[in-house]
Amino acid sequence: MSAVFSPPPAALPTDKELVLKVIPMPADTNGNGDIFGGWVMAQVDLAGSVLPARYIQGRMATVAVNEFIFKQPVRVGDILSFFSAITRVGNTSVTVEVEVYAERFSAQGQYVKVTEARLTYVAIDHQGRPRPVPKHNAPA
Ligand SMILES: CC(C)(COP(=O)(O)OP(=O)(O)OC[C@H]1O[C@@H](n2cnc3c(N)ncnc32)[C@H](O)[C@@H]1OP(=O)(O)O)[C@@H](O)C(=O)NCCC(=O)NCCS
Repeated sequence: MSAVFSPPPAALPTDKELVLKVIPMPADTNGNGDIFGGWVMAQVDLAGSVLPARYIQGRMATVAVNEFIFKQPVRVGDILSFFSAITRVGNTSVTVEVEVYAERFSAQGQYVKVTEARLTYVAIDHQGRPRPVPKHNAPA
């Protein structure tokens, strides 16, 4: 059996905030035995919404996944750490970058960057229409 490729450990970002940690389970795998990309995308969507929620203060919707890169596979039992930072606060939308790092099941304390993404969330009213982001709610 060939060895599984393993890139050198990565340093965690210092310019992003830890917004989510989660461990994928066997039910989340694809036909290769790795974690299904759609499961990773769902977690990134949730993690990405955390910082925009501080600005938007109410209902919001994901309008765009502007970029999504699966850099390395995710495996059952990895501890995933999701880091995020806001890159743009517009009139009705907030855009974030999300980076995901895995601590492999057998190598905790060492981090492998597995995913990076950029997503945009829109503040919506009760009819589902865009509404202005309340600027006075923006963190300092
Ligand atoms: C979110 C939604 C209300 C936006 O309505 P819309 O009429 O498309 O809104 P607008 O064209 O006025 O754009 C609203 C904001 O989104 C931004 N936006 C729209 N498309 C974008 C894209 N592809 N990438 C980045 N930002 C985008 C606009 O720039 C604008 O931001 P700003 O006001 O800060 O400049 C509507 O598209 C919607 O309901 N989409 C479905 C959302 C959903 O179900 N998400 C879950 C998917 S599973």
